[in-house]
Amino acid sequence: MKPNRVLITILSLMVMASMVLAGCGATAGSGKIKVGLSFSDFATERWKNEDTLMRKLLEEKGYEVISQEANHDVKLQNDQIDNMVAQGVKCLFVIAEDVSAAATAVDKAAKAGVKVIAYDRLIKTQNISAYLSFDNVEVGRQQALGVMTALGIPGSTTWTKDNPAKVVLSGGSPTDNNAVLVRQGQMEVIQPYLDEGIITVVADQWVDNWDAGNAQKMMENILTAQANKIDAVIASNDGTALGELQAMKAQGLAGVVPISGQDATADGCNSIVKGEQTVSVYKDIRLLSPKAVDMMDVLLKGETVSGLQEYTLKLLTGEELAGSIQALFLPVEQVTKDNVYDLIVKSEFQPYDDVYRDIPEADRPAKP
Ligand code: BGC
Repeated sequence: MKPNRVLITILSLMVMASMVLAGCGATAGSGKIKVGLSFSDFATERWKNEDTLMRKLLEEKGYEVISQEANHDVKLQNDQIDNMVAQGVKCLFVIAEDVSAAATAVDKAAKAGVKVIAYDRLIKTQNISAYLSFDNVEVGRQQALGVMTALGIPGSTTWTKDNPAKVVLSGGSPTDNNAVLVRQGQMEVIQPYLDEGIITVVADQWVDNWDAGNAQKMMENILTAQANKIDAVIASNDGTALGELQAMKAQGLAGVVPISGQDATADGCNSIVKGEQTVSVYKDIRLLSPKAVDMMDVLLKGETVSGLQEYTLKLLTGEELAGSIQALFLPVEQVTKDNVYDLIVKSEFQPYDDVYRDIPEADRPAKP
């Protein structure tokens, strides 16, 4: 090789080496620990908000965040989890689309030494470090209580054994264990009235993916089958309730037939102030996200997490599953027309303008 060729080769090798080193510096050099967020979908309002909030909290603590959303695709979510493990995340927060299927990817992640927190939704495996959520059974109780109160139950003279209130039960996604827990709470409240015969269940269905469009179609079919003769709907979240209200509105039943939800979404609260949705359930994600982040911080430092309680998988799922996990459930509150301003607007959980959208100026309360 001619001397200038040698020089060029040496120079280009040096350039290549420095590029490789610079590349390493971006990750290893930054010294940041990677953590992953795996969302089932961004269709429900809260998940996008929690993505923003979690990312902020984690970045403030110096973590590098990788976030993925699976658009309700169970296989895609597992692939995304595998992929984040391959990218070297040390911890994962998983909002599982499917409580059973997610266990496959989570077990692999745990085997690779990754700490997994089941965020809001259970994953059916003992290989999670913690399950952090709200009191989902209480969510269901508050939904049913809100709807029963609107029917005047207990103490009603309208609803009797001869004229029971016709109730529709609308469950959440069958692959989300929260939907099961919520239903448990709903049944606790309504069972005595069913036993007494003053209410009757005319339809009992579950909404795939908690999808508003699916919920609307489901309600259209129920209304056709029942010739519009329904007296109440115990729906399991705001998204599905609003879908069902579309179908009800077409038959003149919105604002007439009480209906529940959960999450105190902007649209749900707006529907409440318009007198269409009867009740929602407030779950303050501004409390859940920091709890999850702090817990992960402690876990990654190799310290013991406090404040958790042991629950058997059998108790949480109602299935014959072995083993137990550590969990924490935050309290929830019922939201109605009477307290939406104090609870949701004043606390800035939802913006005033969203909650009072389309409400004439004269009918709005003062801006807090
Ligand atoms: C959550 C609810 C949410 C629903 C649909 C449930 O697991 O607990 O807050 O409305 O999923 O995304």
